Amino acid sequence: MKIGIIYGSSTGNTQDAAELINEELQDIRSDWNIEAKDICELSAEDLTSYEVLIAGIPTWDIGELQSDWIDVYEQLDTVDLKGIKVAVFGLGDAGAYSDSYQDAMGLLYEKLIERGGEGEIGFWPTEGYIFDDSKAVTDDGQHFYGLALDEEGEGDMTGERIAEWVKQVSKELELVKKNTERKESATG
Ligand SMILES: Cc1cc2nc3c(=O)[nH]c(=O)nc-3n(C[C@H](O)[C@H](O)[C@H](O)COP(=O)(O)O)c2cc1C
Repeated sequence: MKIGIIYGSSTGNTQDAAELINEELQDIRSDWNIEAKDICELSAEDLTSYEVLIAGIPTWDIGELQSDWIDVYEQLDTVDLKGIKVAVFGLGDAGAYSDSYQDAMGLLYEKLIERGGEGEIGFWPTEGYIFDDSKAVTDDGQHFYGLALDEEGEGDMTGERIAEWVKQVSKELELVKKNTERKESATG
């Protein structure tokens, strides 16, 4: 499986997380073709070359997308992501920005799904997180659309969260892959 861990990062936190996710996933799945890339080197069209897109974004400027993602986010309106599996992770600061915690992760996830991406991979419990509002939360409030990381307030939990999330995503992708293969062999 060709997997792109695609991140934007203004001060390096999302880049560090992407690199750790890359290392951990390669450890578990050495047979998968995995690469980490900065979104500033890519166009929206480039994203269609992956079978699985693991997209990382921090929220900036109170509820806004990180600057390097803005152009690609707009270009996405012209791109078809049908058949591409999508998981997301986000960086935010719940202490300082409790009303817009991880909003960019929510905006990006919804755009990727709107363009045909297949989601619900790597959904992550909101339990234990303290914040007032977020666009990155499922309707029932039980899950974030992806892994929520907070270097400012909970940096000591980042390593453990990533390790656990990568295991979860790897299992979910394996399951989706098997189901697809089963369906393909059934339809001949
Ligand atoms: C001016 C400013 C605005 C921010 N706005 C938000 C926000 O609305 N929501 C949030 O969760 N985090 C917000 N953050 C926190 C960043 O997302 C956080 O610092 C993140 O780790 C930065 O990631 P990066 O180093 O990859 O750019 C903001 C930070 C700054 C300095």
